[in-house]
Amino acid sequence: MKVTVFGVGYVGLVQGAVLAEVGHKVVCVDVDQHKIDFLNGGGVPIYEPGLEPLVKTNLGAGRLKFTSDAKAGIEHGDVIFIAVGTPPDEDGSADLKYVLEVAGSVAEHAQSHKIVINKSTVPVGTADKVREKLIKVQASQKASFDVVSNPEFLKEGAAVSDCMRPDRIILGTDSEVAEKTLRELYAPFNRNHDKIIVMDIRSAELTKYAANCMLATKISFMNEMSNLAERFGADIENVRRGIGSDARIGYQFIYAGCGYGGSCFPKDVQALVRSANSAGYQARILQAVEAVNYAQKEKLFEYLNLHFNGELSGKIIALWGLSFKPNTDDMREASSRVLMEKLWQAGAKVQAFDPKAMDETQRIYGHRDDLQLLGTKESALTGADALVVCTEWQMFKAPDFELIKDRLTSPVIFDGRNLFEPDQLAAMGIAYYGIGRGKSLEGKVL
Ligand code: UDX
Repeated sequence: MKVTVFGVGYVGLVQGAVLAEVGHKVVCVDVDQHKIDFLNGGGVPIYEPGLEPLVKTNLGAGRLKFTSDAKAGIEHGDVIFIAVGTPPDEDGSADLKYVLEVAGSVAEHAQSHKIVINKSTVPVGTADKVREKLIKVQASQKASFDVVSNPEFLKEGAAVSDCMRPDRIILGTDSEVAEKTLRELYAPFNRNHDKIIVMDIRSAELTKYAANCMLATKISFMNEMSNLAERFGADIENVRRGIGSDARIGYQFIYAGCGYGGSCFPKDVQALVRSANSAGYQARILQAVEAVNYAQKEKLFEYLNLHFNGELSGKIIALWGLSFKPNTDDMREASSRVLMEKLWQAGAKVQAFDPKAMDETQRIYGHRDDLQLLGTKESALTGADALVVCTEWQMFKAPDFELIKDRLTSPVIFDGRNLFEPDQLAAMGIAYYGIGRGKSLEGKVL
């Protein structure tokens, strides 16, 4: 099948590469000529396990092409994915500018029937706006359009496998032709049992937000419980195991920590709050989810401030983990950024290490002289007054505590992801601050 994908970000690039891998002929279009040249040269602009070989093989086999020529892309695809960014507007609602620009150019260049698929996370009602734009701008009598909502559920760091083996494929459509074509397109991913769920367009659009907001709610709920655990002298890690064993609750996404980040949760929760507002409804739960997360991202700083009696100026803080979660170099809305910025404001210096996000940190904060990026986790410790862990990378989970003790001026660990056992550290003479680990905090509650 001939497929065109607009936007070679996380969603578009992974979707394009995976569709090519199963034999479809895919053209990816992006306005960023540098990115296109880089991809055509065999490079992959983002770090995502398994993506680079997939792009290279399919590019080599001629099933995957990259261009900045929108017209050529539109001529090629019978199915056209819109996977461009929907950055938050100033007020937090999703900006549809790029989505509608693509719709405009599809309408301008189409010479036959096109199935236009919204893959970007877009507010409910966007498919209608895309349809209006297509009809308004349509240039050729030979063109006609179906609009489908087919939201993406991939997780960064597992994007290729999520896309290859999706839990579900949501098709929001009012067209039998579109449904039949997309069933064919996705047949290779739908082998063992039927994962395709067909519904009306608006429900499909809301499904995406509901999924992300539910997950964000689970996290903020646990973070709220962790704040209670601190006050009650309980340990959130025990509580987590205790409630996760109830299959109705489950073990996933109930880890308390220094807040959620990334390109989806913060943006989508905010956008749904705004959409709700414009529909005359106050989304109280989602507002609370956001407020709890905001406060949670400041928590490590507050513990540091407490430990050092408000005297952070001149202190050197070792920081392990910069990306918003493991297995990605993505720093968008990362908790590490809130922490570093607050530390700098207080006059502290940061010595940081991350297995993948060093270049990205350099790009964002390279100009600062109160940040030093070190090549190993051990070197980040040298001469530091404290160690903070912000991201649960595998390589941080079983460190050499004796070495940490030796290298820090006075041994203290601030564990933003509850990787370590408070009792073990206490026995070794290392002061410990976790998230929601009441007993170990000895009443030092914020
Ligand atoms: C998310 C959704 O999982 C995915 O389905 C959707 O398509 C896009 O948004 P992603 O942004 O890649 O994916 O990250 P995810 O793995 O969900 O983690 C989000 C954040 O939540 C991270 O900062 C992570 O550290 C945090 N988190 C996750 C917790 O704090 N506790 C948890 O229990 C789980």
